[in-house]
Amino acid sequence: MEQIKIFDTTLRDGEQSPGASMNAAEKLRLARQLEKLGVNAIEAGFPAASTGDFDAVKQIAANIHQAEVTALARASKDDIDKAWGAIQDAAKPRIHTFLATSDIHMQHKLRMNRDQVVEAAAAAVKYAKSLTPNVEFSAEDGSRSDRDFLCRVFGAAIEAGATTVNLPDTVGYAMPDEFGELVAYVIRHTPNIHRAVVSVHCHNDLGLATANTLAGIKAGARQAEVTINGIGERAGNTSLEELVMGLYTRREMLGFTTSIQTREIFPTSRLVSMITGIVVQPNKAVVGANAFAHEAGIHQDGVLKNRMTYEIMEPETIGLSSNRLVLGKHSGRHAFKQKLADMGYELSESDLNRLFDRFKGLADKRKEILDEDIEVLVAEEILRVPDTYQLDYLNVVSGTMAVPTATVKLKINGETAQSAGFGVGPIDAAFNTIAKMTGTTSKLLRFSVNAISGGMDAQGEVTVRLQENGLVALGKGADPDIITASAKAFLNGLNRLEYMKRNPSISAEERVL
Ligand code: KIV
Ligand code: ZN
Repeated sequence: MEQIKIFDTTLRDGEQSPGASMNAAEKLRLARQLEKLGVNAIEAGFPAASTGDFDAVKQIAANIHQAEVTALARASKDDIDKAWGAIQDAAKPRIHTFLATSDIHMQHKLRMNRDQVVEAAAAAVKYAKSLTPNVEFSAEDGSRSDRDFLCRVFGAAIEAGATTVNLPDTVGYAMPDEFGELVAYVIRHTPNIHRAVVSVHCHNDLGLATANTLAGIKAGARQAEVTINGIGERAGNTSLEELVMGLYTRREMLGFTTSIQTREIFPTSRLVSMITGIVVQPNKAVVGANAFAHEAGIHQDGVLKNRMTYEIMEPETIGLSSNRLVLGKHSGRHAFKQKLADMGYELSESDLNRLFDRFKGLADKRKEILDEDIEVLVAEEILRVPDTYQLDYLNVVSGTMAVPTATVKLKINGETAQSAGFGVGPIDAAFNTIAKMTGTTSKLLRFSVNAISGGMDAQGEVTVRLQENGLVALGKGADPDIITASAKAFLNGLNRLEYMKRNPSISAEERVL
């Protein structure tokens, strides 16, 4: 079977999703997970876009050893210098330069004619090639470009040294047959195409990104550009999990493999939604909460008799445990320790004791404790920064006849403080009261609530993103009561901001813990 290269652009195109911006530490954490997932290339960012992006790409370049670390650059010397400045220390650097090739982009955006575009593309690739042998060229809006002109630009880019030529469906306009034919045409008519890997990069404006990418691969493309959970500009990009599981599930028919460790798909999807706060829709293919849920009686009956009646993939393949019900209130410390070890957490005795107490508290409230619940406990108890603020007590009153009111008791640096306040709803009342007590001037950039697991007693997981004086912190909290989960998330975000303020030199890695 031939291997398809998986080029992940979650950190670049994915970050272009509205509201998805990540800080350098979050990007580094995600890059490490992408490497564990087994992607061949990580597009770490667009260094010319901002110094923040430059620094993030540089950190990723220094810490990633197996995957190629790619930096995006427009077709200009300045951009390419910045891209190279950020990735030159990477074990496997790649410069990715791009220029639009469709008439509409050339006339209205670039104000360049065809000859100028060919010349600029070749010059950019040639310059990038003088810095590193590994150069990718993308023809932006390729799917709406004149076919022969596209072949001419790709031919010039290959002549100048491009080792990958990428054909994007930038605006998600193509239909699968049409896109497959275009890829085949480019392969047939581009001079020296055998000297480069042909890549495809599809957007999902018509919901066809994965179908178009598969069509491109069937037509001869050997690299696919994708993002986790399909996040990206507008309707997003081809989702890694859909493409990889499509190739895997239908491997006998399609005949391709990838280097992806499929069991890391679900943990990576969770990490992306945790970091960005973008919740995965429940019916999302492969990683949605309902992707393996069987509701109808006939389906349940079939699955009990033979799972393959209604399941085309095994949940374990993407890293979901088959035995989703893991522990309950009668589970002992030993079983809990074993479960943590199975999930990849080796904890010290004191961390284990602390976590076990939290687990028992949760098991008293809920019948079933799932892996996802344990993940949240670990994030809250073990990975968290030292607390300036701790929630002692929260009481809220709300309803159709009441002004939403919150009474909050906090420990602030160990001292007890209490206050009450109002809001337009119970969460607003809790946040206003906490803000008053802590004196924070932070701005709430994002707030999202997600049910961690199914059922009426599911834990609500709240993510907040706070900004104060240029620092951005993510806060997370989980509780069967979503108002309590929200207060915990807000306090967690405030604690992280305090930690960052007190430790300006802390490593990027610590900042996201
Ligand atoms: O969609 C697009 O055209 C892009 C290019 C920069 C590859 O993201
Ligand atoms: Zn794109």
